[in-house]
Amino acid sequence: MRHFLDLHTTDAAELRAIIDQARAMKARRAGLPRGAPDADQPLAGRVVALIFEKPSTRTRVSFDVGIRQMGGQPLVLSGAEMQLGHGETIADTARVLSRYVDLIMIRTFDETTLHELAEHADVPVINGLTDASHPCQIMADVLTYEEHRGAIAGRKVVWAGDGNNVCASFLHAAGQFGFDLTFTGPETLDPPRAAVAFARGRGRTVEIERDPARAVAGADLVVTDTWLSMHDAQSARERRHNQLRPYQVNAALMAQARPDALFMHCLPAHRGEEVSSEVMDGPASVIFDEAENRLHAQKAILRWCLGG
Ligand code: CP
Ligand code: NVA
Repeated sequence: MRHFLDLHTTDAAELRAIIDQARAMKARRAGLPRGAPDADQPLAGRVVALIFEKPSTRTRVSFDVGIRQMGGQPLVLSGAEMQLGHGETIADTARVLSRYVDLIMIRTFDETTLHELAEHADVPVINGLTDASHPCQIMADVLTYEEHRGAIAGRKVVWAGDGNNVCASFLHAAGQFGFDLTFTGPETLDPPRAAVAFARGRGRTVEIERDPARAVAGADLVVTDTWLSMHDAQSARERRHNQLRPYQVNAALMAQARPDALFMHCLPAHRGEEVSSEVMDGPASVIFDEAENRLHAQKAILRWCLGG
């Protein structure tokens, strides 16, 4: 069974093949209207359940549209409106859905929910974000970086701000795709130790640098994300903002990076908080390419899950 659960638990060669597949599938669609079908219809006759226990714009729309392009049928489900949100176990939900659908994507809170779903499902399961990781996003980001600047291997990526779920997947990607990562942010928001250890274990340089200007020196790519994730308590907001303000990605900070450095953000962004509008809308920013590439990367992931 080919589940797509996390970058560090998927073979590096398979991840590279998925990126290559995404590029090829994207190229074949060049110039077509969004709703036009892919010529090969690799999901013909397949139904894919998309379960959301948290809000989403990009993940929801990109999976839905991608599945339609591939000839499959998406079924978008809100966790709160399923029996899942009213006491039915995740294991029973997995067994039931496996009798109806060919593939399941889930966006949830605790990563144990994702793993339990995968354990009990008879069909492939895709991680559409948990509190701990966001692998589909980083597949799109690797695709985006390489479209603009060539191989990501050997590059220096700087993550500024909260060492959150998206940061953890970036560290997994560092280990799997062979780039180095410097984290800059307050000590209380350091990335998970296991993700740092994974990248270092694969021979990558991972630095923790409290001074953001020093951190971005020599950066090929600067990345940030919201200061308060969907799983974080709203009560933490003020403290987080005070701690993270020095790590805002603005023009002054970008000026410390390499002249050809790119800027990425998985979105949704909070303009004027983790990133200035000047950087969001500036020449280094590839944020909307990242958003588009969610579509292409996930189509390749869906195809890989079904053995294609
Ligand atoms: N980047 C991302 O996953 O966006 P959504 O929360 O809108 O799906
Ligand atoms: N870190 C953010 C990413 C949203 C796509 C969150 O988990 O809310």
